[in-house]
Amino acid sequence: MLEVSGLTRRFGGLLAVADASLHVPAGSIVALVGPNGAGKTTLFAMISGFVPSDSGKVVFAGEDVTGLGPHVICARGLVRTFQVVQPFGRLSVRENVAVGTHLRVADRREALARATAVAERVGMGHLLDRPAQALTVAGRKRLELARALATEPRLLLLDEVMAGLNPTEMTEMIRIVRGIRDGGVTVFLIEHVMQAVASLAERVHVLNQGRLIAEGAPAEIARMPEVVEAYLGHGVAERMTAQAAGGAR
Ligand SMILES: Nc1ncnc2c1ncn2[C@@H]1O[C@H](COP(=O)(O)OP(=O)(O)OP(=O)(O)O)[C@@H](O)[C@H]1O
Ligand SMILES: [Mg+2]
Repeated sequence: MLEVSGLTRRFGGLLAVADASLHVPAGSIVALVGPNGAGKTTLFAMISGFVPSDSGKVVFAGEDVTGLGPHVICARGLVRTFQVVQPFGRLSVRENVAVGTHLRVADRREALARATAVAERVGMGHLLDRPAQALTVAGRKRLELARALATEPRLLLLDEVMAGLNPTEMTEMIRIVRGIRDGGVTVFLIEHVMQAVASLAERVHVLNQGRLIAEGAPAEIARMPEVVEAYLGHGVAERMTAQAAGGAR
């Protein structure tokens, strides 16, 4: 579904992403993890066309999309969410989601009807008429997910959709993300919450100081000394190994 090769991006003297190559198979949930400032969001921004790469190539669904603009890439079926969510505060949840559905349908009523269906899919059916600015953190995260989903992607890039959620909200979000994949959308997600990574992702890529340093199943990367040193720490690694042994839910 997604083939990234040699993607590189510098900001001035800083090498934010260096020669990143990875593969996201169709129908899978793949995670990207790594410390703050590792370059995760920059990598997503290059894949989705928001930030031009200095070199490298992005192939989506068999087509080279390198250098295309974000709207063109979105129309092809590859969409990202933003780590810092900025909904239209005074617009309702339904209207915010309709910004996404309008990519596929011009008719206003149809766009709003589809927005309603998408909002219900992410558990926001009871919040449709609420202004976005009245939402909690969890509500805003769901709205961001709904806005992206509304564009009818084949590949969804999620940038920290679990951040700031309490355990109940996180369990619900994990269920929603799994449901999206089961509905036929491939998911590539950036996540710091290792419990979510271990329970959702089939494969995990680890980025550290702009470089991909490891790749494997969650339980495998939790056993790699370089990953534990660079990112996880020993406590998290042990919990992930135990979670995998106990069967991830
Ligand atoms: N537009 C920009 N201009 C200059 N430097 C930038 C820009 N965007 C990102 N950077 C720098 O590039 C590096 C990678 O940032 P990025 O946001 O991709 O990291 P991240 O892995 O997503 O971190 P976090 O986990 O904190 O979200 C950081 O050092 C950051 O300060
Ligand atoms: Mg980031």
